[in-house]
Amino acid sequence: MINDTILIVSPSFKQLALNLSSSLNIPLVEAEIRTFTDGENKVRIKENLSNKRCIVIQPIIPPDVDKNIMQTLMILKKCQDDGAARIILAIPYMPYARQDKAFLEGEVISIDLIAKLIEFTGVSSLITVDIHSMRALSYYSIDVHNVSAIPLLADYMRENFSVSKNKFIVVSPDQGGIQRAKDFANLLKTDMISFKKTRDKLTGEVIIDYEIPTTISLSLYERDVIIVDDMISTGGTIVKACDVLKANNCQNIYVVCSHALLLENAHDNLLKAGVKEIISTNSIPNEKIRQVDISPLLHTNIVRILKNK
Ligand code: R5P
Repeated sequence: MINDTILIVSPSFKQLALNLSSSLNIPLVEAEIRTFTDGENKVRIKENLSNKRCIVIQPIIPPDVDKNIMQTLMILKKCQDDGAARIILAIPYMPYARQDKAFLEGEVISIDLIAKLIEFTGVSSLITVDIHSMRALSYYSIDVHNVSAIPLLADYMRENFSVSKNKFIVVSPDQGGIQRAKDFANLLKTDMISFKKTRDKLTGEVIIDYEIPTTISLSLYERDVIIVDDMISTGGTIVKACDVLKANNCQNIYVVCSHALLLENAHDNLLKAGVKEIISTNSIPNEKIRQVDISPLLHTNIVRILKNK
């Protein structure tokens, strides 16, 4: 379809890139990446990228977030040095988006640095999925597309679970996620309630408050619950939310999120806490859970960006 356009990926994100390259009908170039014993990386891309429109799709995901950032910057540098006509970067999971301000005096605003590094390497458009905060986006001055996986996730739930208004209720574990959960609930035509979460800035301890709703339609009693969040990291938020849900006699608990980081024992801890199933996108590949492919979402946005100039 697009002759002068190529997709570049590092080997660890190949499946998503293969889906995209076949749907966009553009060649896929795999960057050769080597990490030396001292931790330094070497990147090699044999093709000459001069005058090409380069779409770089990169995982920047645990446990090697900083290593992935460096490798991404090196790939971008190769595009820049060769004189690529255009560089479009897709990072489905945006790292450091939670450090979008100095919460405590003296803290570095990490996402500001990430934005500057990416812009320095000549990226003209950036695509990311459900970034943690709008404030994080504000540090970018290039063309940024923050796309929502919520419609894809809602479609998946509709097609694979018998979601009905009387049985299911959507829960946002915190107030920051209300709009996301509302959008999800609207698509599934279910009710939605929100918990109130506070997190100790020093210890990270999570406390969840819940006001028992006065209307039966918003009650948790014997309802199947879908907790919707942008990301599950340690799982602490969801475990605490499950305690509240179970104390209110809900039935099955499903968790839907855009980014399943699922660090350390998070997956087991969620199952122990009563979660029946976790459904996420494949922004962070994980074979233990059901994942919805975001390549159609990336495809639509890449085509839109390419048409724009
Ligand atoms: C917080 O505002 C986010 O939306 C997530 O709820 C949070 O980052 C999840 O982290 P964890 O799984 O460590 O509780």
